[in-house]
Amino acid sequence: MSAEDGLKKIISHAKEYGFVFPSSEIYDGLSAAYDYGQLGSELKNNLKQYWWTSMVRMNDNIVGIDAAIFMHPTTWKASGHVDAFNDPLIDNKDSKKRYRADVLIEEYIGKIEAKINKDVAKGKKKFGADFSEEVFRTTNPNILRRQNKIDEIKSKFKAAMGADDLDAVKALIEELEIACPISGSKNWTDVRQFNLMFKTELGAVSGDSGVVYLRPETAQGIFVNYLNVQKSGRMKLPFGIAQIGKAFRNEIIARQFIFRMREFEQMEMQFFVKPGTQEEWYNHWKDARKNWHYSLGLGEESYRLHDHIKLAHYADAACDIEFSFPMGFKELEGIHSRTDFDLKSHEDHSGKKLRFFDPETKESFVPYVVETSIGLDRLFLAVLSKAYTEEKLDGGAERIVLKIPPAIAPIKAAVLPLIKKDGLPEKAKEVLKQLRIKHNVQYDEKDAIGRRYRRQDAIGTPLCITIDHDSLNDNTVTVRERDGMTQERVLISDLDSYVDSNVGMHVLFSK
Ligand code: GAP
Repeated sequence: MSAEDGLKKIISHAKEYGFVFPSSEIYDGLSAAYDYGQLGSELKNNLKQYWWTSMVRMNDNIVGIDAAIFMHPTTWKASGHVDAFNDPLIDNKDSKKRYRADVLIEEYIGKIEAKINKDVAKGKKKFGADFSEEVFRTTNPNILRRQNKIDEIKSKFKAAMGADDLDAVKALIEELEIACPISGSKNWTDVRQFNLMFKTELGAVSGDSGVVYLRPETAQGIFVNYLNVQKSGRMKLPFGIAQIGKAFRNEIIARQFIFRMREFEQMEMQFFVKPGTQEEWYNHWKDARKNWHYSLGLGEESYRLHDHIKLAHYADAACDIEFSFPMGFKELEGIHSRTDFDLKSHEDHSGKKLRFFDPETKESFVPYVVETSIGLDRLFLAVLSKAYTEEKLDGGAERIVLKIPPAIAPIKAAVLPLIKKDGLPEKAKEVLKQLRIKHNVQYDEKDAIGRRYRRQDAIGTPLCITIDHDSLNDNTVTVRERDGMTQERVLISDLDSYVDSNVGMHVLFSK
């Protein structure tokens, strides 16, 4: 299945079963905005709970806040977003379509890379068992020529962007003869920088003085509250502040479903440390976050760590945790050692001291910060895309099953009376009443039991509990497990603890 087909299937499954809908669909939708449906919002809440519990509840020295989306506009001057949160854009004069100049160039490079991969595949076929990809890539003249071309383009682009020379970026697009995919023409405007923040106006204040921004990251809500939290919580270094909330970016190329959106949700944690200890804490958080992902159960092979070579001006180390999405390995979470850049800059712009007084050394200093920042929607897509499975069963039947890690599945168990009479629905409803106090459970009595199993498989319900005639006599039920489709008989009085030990979120924390 191609990457595109894989993603398409997930998008249509997500819509059919109430996970994700296009926003305002009755008006033909709004590009790059999505609504989470009845099951999607349950899954999203479970992911938030998993993150919040492991960050805030499981760490003595991390607390959580919920800051406003609107912030004083100077916040964004201090953070650098007003001046530098830009994408280089170019318009095609004939199609009137707007593109990110860097993406046009990356796509051009992607085409050369695809040719290299084709050459490698041919080589593999030709030389069979004797084939060494490394030797082939470093000696084959075609590949070397193509690789040189890629290196040359990259170095020209880097130099142009480094010097803020947008004319040189346009010249590179013209030199490579890149055409607009819609009109096919090479009739381009100049390249301009485009700020990604959404602007709006505050209340009755008009003009520039009333301008506020929708926050492009949640982190700044944490920085501006550093002193409030430190003082009111009597926090000692090192300590962290965590937050989950919406962020907004006017992405020019918003695509790949919920991977890149204009309105999305972040789960960020800023860890304040003593200057000089940032490397140790950076390594700590890199490890801790990697292990957090591993315990979710999507398979360790699904993750890759990518250390940044080129660092942002405020960082002294940074890496991405990448996930193997249907479109390939892409960034899921960033871990950044941000030095004292943000707090210092907020000190400069606000005129307020944002320091920590160390009672032992009697010194006062601006703490350094290590940040962990994950996109909730990307995590959602990671779970959904790994979970989506098409299976052929013995006897030729097929099923679509979402193998969502049970602890975060939207519905934990379905309670199903075998038939709609003989007192079975009444017994099933007693079981439902007992289980729903602790777990999100669903009742279903419509259609044959096999069809009901398929419906629950398609939404990722880990357990199906069937009440049959024996249940009326011996107070046992059949519990069917989603992935292996195995069944066992369980006493109704043991069901609570059975469900809890199989699908409770605590299972993830005991790993
Ligand atoms: N405070 C640091 C920060 O915001 P970032 O790398 O720009 O860093 C952090 O964003 C995470 O937010 C990313 O790793 C990604 O998961 C998520 N993210 C960023 N832009 C996004 C978008 N347009 N749509 C969905 N998620 C996004």
